[in-house]
Amino acid sequence: MGEQMKPIEIAKGIYWVGAIDWNIRDFHGYSTYQGTTYNSYLIMDKKITLIDTVKKEFADELLENISRIVDPKKIDCVISNHTEMDHSGGLPRVMHKIGEDKPLFCSRMGHKNLSHHFQEKWNYNPVEDGGEMNLGRRNLVFLETRMLHWPDSMFTYVKEDKLLFSSDAFGQHYAGLERFDDQMGEAIMPHALKYFANILLLYSPLILKLVDKVTEMGLSFNTICPDHGIIWRKDPGKIIKAYVEWSDQKPKKKAVVIYDTMWQSTKKMAEAIVAALGEEGVDAKPMNLRSCHRSDIMTEVIDAGAVIVGSPTLNNGLFPTVSDFLTYMKGLRPKNKIGAAFCSYGWSGEAMNLINKELEAMKFEIIDPGLKIQYVPDKEGLQACHELGKKIAQRISGL
Ligand code: FEO
Repeated sequence: MGEQMKPIEIAKGIYWVGAIDWNIRDFHGYSTYQGTTYNSYLIMDKKITLIDTVKKEFADELLENISRIVDPKKIDCVISNHTEMDHSGGLPRVMHKIGEDKPLFCSRMGHKNLSHHFQEKWNYNPVEDGGEMNLGRRNLVFLETRMLHWPDSMFTYVKEDKLLFSSDAFGQHYAGLERFDDQMGEAIMPHALKYFANILLLYSPLILKLVDKVTEMGLSFNTICPDHGIIWRKDPGKIIKAYVEWSDQKPKKKAVVIYDTMWQSTKKMAEAIVAALGEEGVDAKPMNLRSCHRSDIMTEVIDAGAVIVGSPTLNNGLFPTVSDFLTYMKGLRPKNKIGAAFCSYGWSGEAMNLINKELEAMKFEIIDPGLKIQYVPDKEGLQACHELGKKIAQRISGL
């Protein structure tokens, strides 16, 4: 057996059997400075059930973990809550080990997506939203959570334990020896927020609907087990409450000034705008795209009242990092933002309007035509930056 984390019992007869990825630093474009985990769970009941697998490279570790509790061949069925490969990559290895004919439960879209992805003739058993399954002592309920965050996503709820396997929802990219919220305290919340801001933000309306649906169904939770990071057992209500708050995106008196710079002119503009915002009592910070990762910037954007974007004009266009960030932010659909653009340039200055166009496409309220300054900002130029900062501060204060 390897030296990986051993299984951990999270409720009587229900085990965490996942893997810790200490080394991952880039999760499809999201900076995972503290790694992540791929959580897989084993329910020991009359029907021994595995919930989700792990990333392909960790499949042997998963099987070793399971073997510490039971011979994997004795697993009766697998439930796949989500097709994305960090949870399904281990399926071929697991199915091969436990027996290719064992039932594989998933949503209807999961059936479609898993079949398409793996091209394997597994024994698929698509389940309905609200469908139930008896394992012996326990009963499971399946909840379709389409587009949270893939079309195939679903949750699995254990009625007797009031325990929810929530797939990607309520997760965090955090690798550590801690497995539970009570071992982390408040320190886990920034990881949960970053995860929400970069993975779930665009589905905020669906999250609010789901919380309503679950409340109407009268479901309550003792434990929430996401597929990444720690398990919420001390206070599962805390992360649900945080999701409702984050989904609302209520703007704070806060501004994020995002920029890149070639010869420091755009930097000078950014810092002058930030200084003016600060003087007006706004929580503001400049974020240089070559010092700050796009996913850390999005974590700041989520509750900001204003998002101000600056770029040098390069080859009649935007600086590449600014284009990258605007594309990323647009996909995540932040809402309730004031927007403004600024740029420096040598002879054409298209960057400002290009930023404005993107901010308009994101439905930001553009409160100023923007500011463009040729070459190096002089005293007057810096004063104009100051005025722009003040104007933004006044508008934020009125939100
Ligand atoms: Fe953790 Fe959508 O996969």
